[in-house]
Amino acid sequence: MSETETAAAAEASEQRPERKRLFIKTYGCQMNVYDSERMRDLLTPLGYEPAEAPDGADLVILNTCHIREKAAEKVYSELGRLKPLKEAKAAQGSSMTVTVAGCVAQAEGAEIQRRAPVVDLVVGPQTYHKLPELIASVHRGRGEALDTEFEVEEKFDVLAAPKRQIEGYTAFVTVQEGCDKFCTFCVVPYTRGAEWSRPVDQVVAEVRALAAQGVREITLLGQNVNAYHGDAPAGHEAEGTWGLGRLVRHLALIGGIERIRFTTSHPKDMDDELIQTFADEPKLMPYFHLPVQAGSDRILKAMNRKHTAAEYLDIIARLRQARPDIAISGDMIVGFPGETEADFEATMELVRQVNYASCFSFKYSKRPGTPGAAMHGQIDEAVKTERLARLQALLNEQQTAFNESMVGKTLPVLFEREGRNPGQIGGRSPYLQAVHCDGPASLIGQIAEVEITGASKNALSGRLVPQETRAA
Ligand code: 5AD
Ligand code: SF4
Repeated sequence: MSETETAAAAEASEQRPERKRLFIKTYGCQMNVYDSERMRDLLTPLGYEPAEAPDGADLVILNTCHIREKAAEKVYSELGRLKPLKEAKAAQGSSMTVTVAGCVAQAEGAEIQRRAPVVDLVVGPQTYHKLPELIASVHRGRGEALDTEFEVEEKFDVLAAPKRQIEGYTAFVTVQEGCDKFCTFCVVPYTRGAEWSRPVDQVVAEVRALAAQGVREITLLGQNVNAYHGDAPAGHEAEGTWGLGRLVRHLALIGGIERIRFTTSHPKDMDDELIQTFADEPKLMPYFHLPVQAGSDRILKAMNRKHTAAEYLDIIARLRQARPDIAISGDMIVGFPGETEADFEATMELVRQVNYASCFSFKYSKRPGTPGAAMHGQIDEAVKTERLARLQALLNEQQTAFNESMVGKTLPVLFEREGRNPGQIGGRSPYLQAVHCDGPASLIGQIAEVEITGASKNALSGRLVPQETRAA
């Protein structure tokens, strides 16, 4: 090393920020998982290194979710657990900065710091890009400790820049945020703001960077992902905005990307191009999450879903025509205000007609500030519990039958990790089923054919098809 190089290295190490420990706890949806990764990317250049536990951390971020019941209460009790840790850190002459991010931060705002003085900073989902600045102002003892503006474009301009370290072969990519649908049970339009799509160029740049880091499968995220309408790439012959189908076809051209998925969609935003993409883009996996929430038109109207049961079933039929093996997944709510036994039976009937590969189901629960919370005809908890049990029995039956229908078939599996038992590897089928089999760790990160020999409600097992047979 020359003298100048040594001097430059010394200067660089002086400039390297002091090492600090960052603990992020993520609640809720994949969008939050994505946002947490991006916050970590943003803070890495400032010297923050990931910590496994909050004990002794310099910065703790609770990235919260408001979808589930008592979400805010759970955050407050977590904050209660952080209090002694923060005090212990202070007793050592150091400090812990406690940040609440995500949808509870957006919904509760300044109330959080009033109820939990342990909190230093409250940031809504659209202002993560300002975290370094906000943390610095907390450290300087200034009062700018709440930022819950909606500035989604700015967020992605900044968050698109850092290169993240990918830990696996699958990755999420946010392409759309927010929701204008205002289903009467849901807080998302209030916490995530209006619908917005990232420009195609930005998405392509991110997916290329992921592919270069070895990612094989991407899942495009958005609260209303099939409402995507991002600006076309600069100079492209197809100007204006592109829908999700077109985006998927374009991303499929990126070398290294073998599988594409997206979630979550709304029936009202289905278009023919997206359905056709399932027919003719082999990289788009045959699995589709399309929540319906209920099977009774009366309840769908009260939920402000903007579609009927028949319209939903028609979309499913068209999807199956385009891609006969497509696995359908959904979300259901039982016990919405005013739901009668006949309404619930309509939900059961819709489920029988769709025949779901998997489906999430929930008891309706009031979200403060949403129209549903103020509706007459709230349903008894015991009735909701009983209806949910009936629905889940049917859904479990369908899911098990779907998995069992794979036995005897050979499926391409993207291996992502070592299995639970030694010598085993695990991954996902095109239909998003967990698959495990005996195999070498060298297959992790690759797609290989597996003959399915066993199935349960939650997973498939099988044996690797030998390479020679695969080549034949
Ligand atoms: N009560 C019950 N389930 C809800 N969901 C959203 N809000 C509520 C609520 N208030 C469910 C919907 C949605 C999924 C993410 O969570 O089914 O699709
Ligand atoms: Fe919530 Fe309805 Fe928007 Fe989905 S479409 S995020 S359920 S308001």
